[in-house]
Amino acid sequence: MHAIGYTQHLPLDDPHGLIDFDLPQPTPLAHDLLVQVTAVSVNPVDLAVRGNHDPLDPQHPTVIGWDAYGTVTAVGAAVTLFQPGDAVFYAGSFKRPGSNSEYQLVDERLVGHAPTNLTPAQSAAMPLTSLTAWEALFEQLGIDPHADNHGQTLLVINGAGGVGSVATQLAHWAGLTVIATASRPETIAWTQAHGSDAVVNHREDLVPQVRELGHQYVDYVLELSNLNQHWNEIVDLIKPSGHIVSITGSDTPIDLRALKAKRATFAWEWMYTKSYFETPDMVSQHQILEEVRQLLDNGTLQSTLTQTIQPLNAENLMAAHKLVGSHHMMGKVVLEK
Ligand SMILES: NC(=O)c1ccc[n+]([C@@H]2O[C@H](COP(=O)([O-])OP(=O)(O)OC[C@H]3O[C@@H](n4cnc5c(N)ncnc54)[C@H](OP(=O)(O)O)[C@@H]3O)[C@@H](O)[C@H]2O)c1
Repeated sequence: MHAIGYTQHLPLDDPHGLIDFDLPQPTPLAHDLLVQVTAVSVNPVDLAVRGNHDPLDPQHPTVIGWDAYGTVTAVGAAVTLFQPGDAVFYAGSFKRPGSNSEYQLVDERLVGHAPTNLTPAQSAAMPLTSLTAWEALFEQLGIDPHADNHGQTLLVINGAGGVGSVATQLAHWAGLTVIATASRPETIAWTQAHGSDAVVNHREDLVPQVRELGHQYVDYVLELSNLNQHWNEIVDLIKPSGHIVSITGSDTPIDLRALKAKRATFAWEWMYTKSYFETPDMVSQHQILEEVRQLLDNGTLQSTLTQTIQPLNAENLMAAHKLVGSHHMMGKVVLEK
């Protein structure tokens, strides 16, 4: 089967950063689905791994990619949730070969049935960012989407990127007042069209901008860009007893003591935690994707697809990595077979 992978950490503008090659088609065991992949999306994690992580096997290129739409062609003996012929979407596991190949093995507990009212590209744009936004809001911040959340305010730092474009929609659906950050006319308009009630500029101090909107404090902060850069603003803006979640790494220590007087809580979100540690609630990613599918199919959520590139080959995938590497993505880029 055709696959795309890397053997060395090359810069984004190096044409050999990713290469096309052939691999044997894998066989599904236990909870595995064998999926024929037809569309994939690119996330910042693809760039981070291609740029920094040692290849899994020095003999072969390493296949990455964590967003996919495809069709199940075979199943392992323990599979109960899917059957051959099902259209699926998923973000998969950090520890296994990725979606940048013709066929991929993925554990059924990480997979959802694909939306029926969306195109394959629109569906492929969604899984990783939806899982991240859902877990951050409804698990790590503890927001109950079915409770009455009116009057509760959420600040989303990076409202128009891949994760922010879903998070603002989910928070709006849950009834929160959403303040999102964006810095350009197109990203401001995009986040307003995807659930934000107000927009502030992350290139300027967020504190006076949020206060000018009439919010001395916010109940929740969802940090999706650079925790170090925005930490002091978050500490100032979080309400006493409020809740903060970050999905980004931190290259210097974060001073949690700054939250003590407000007794605010801080949590990390890592979309791969459940599959990485094979936690007992790993199947919740299947359940989240099934809920996201329904929200997409009934029009509550919009796909965040903004660009489609064809065909899926190393050259085009590298072009998509470059787009994501600009740090100015609005929504998602997808590659189709
Ligand atoms: N923990 C997890 O499970 C997880 C999951 C997914 C992603 N992530 C991480 O989360 C981050 C966001 O991912 P993503 O896919 O949403 O990113 P993305 O799509 O690449 O984000 C692009 C957006 O970032 C905005 N931006 C640029 N500089 C900013 C700043 N200083 N402050 C706030 N926003 C800024 C840009 O807005 P303007 O152009 O308007 O400036 C642009 O719209 C990445 O670091 C990624 O690695 C973690």
